[in-house]
Amino acid sequence: MDLQSVGNGSVMKSAKRTQATDALERQDKRDLSLMTRASARLHHGLPNEDHVFEVRRQGFSISTDRSRLDIDLVCRFLLEESHWAREFSEAMLLRALRSSLLFGLYAPDGRQIGFARAITDFSLFCYLCDVFVLASYRDRGLGTWLSATVLKHPDLASVPTWMLKTSGAHRVYARVGFGPLEDASLFMQFRKKVDPPAVKEAVPRAPA
Ligand SMILES: CC(C)(COP(=O)(O)OP(=O)(O)OC[C@H]1O[C@@H](n2cnc3c(N)ncnc32)[C@H](O)[C@@H]1OP(=O)(O)O)[C@@H](O)C(=O)NCCC(=O)NCCS
Repeated sequence: MDLQSVGNGSVMKSAKRTQATDALERQDKRDLSLMTRASARLHHGLPNEDHVFEVRRQGFSISTDRSRLDIDLVCRFLLEESHWAREFSEAMLLRALRSSLLFGLYAPDGRQIGFARAITDFSLFCYLCDVFVLASYRDRGLGTWLSATVLKHPDLASVPTWMLKTSGAHRVYARVGFGPLEDASLFMQFRKKVDPPAVKEAVPRAPA
């Protein structure tokens, strides 16, 4: 192997490398553009977390403004007074709240008196849960209004399939359109035993 051939070889090699690099760069650009288009399609029309939905009636209001929520009240009610969430830890509940669409119900003086949570993909399916109205405000239509308002939220209004589970409030939900399962044999459930401390560790710390 003479110097020339080494030289030529290296020129060849570097020309080849340049071609290969160019090809890779072109491929990268194509991939990137495909990814950008795909992710743009994936993100197009996603609900804006900062958008606050609010309705008012006779001084009462319902709002999705997370900064207005009395989280202590929500946790206290669900963990101590509800019949469905008592087995959960506060960390499990907070994690669930963090990734759901939350509705606060407020009295005319601004105090929170009720709550509802929507678990959803904002397109095909929504599960309504953790609905409550504080005892002294019940039986005046607020629970029905709260449920109806969740169904009307602009990002949920075109969701076709809704589900919920209730032990005694069937009539409240029936008034806004819910009914028994059309074919219960199609549905299955899995009650998984979980270790609350493990879930607690997995909860990300709130920023300081
Ligand atoms: C279930 C719950 C949210 C309902 O809230 P609420 O504000 O009392 O609900 P509403 O007032 O809309 O409806 C309750 C009753 O008031 C009556 N009512 C409805 N509108 C009314 C109005 N404008 N004026 C007076 N009464 C009214 C309804 O007839 C209804 O009675 P019925 O269900 O026996 O037919 C509330 O009772 C609660 O928090 N319960 C404990 C938690 C719970 O079980 N949550 C459900 C989890 S799935």
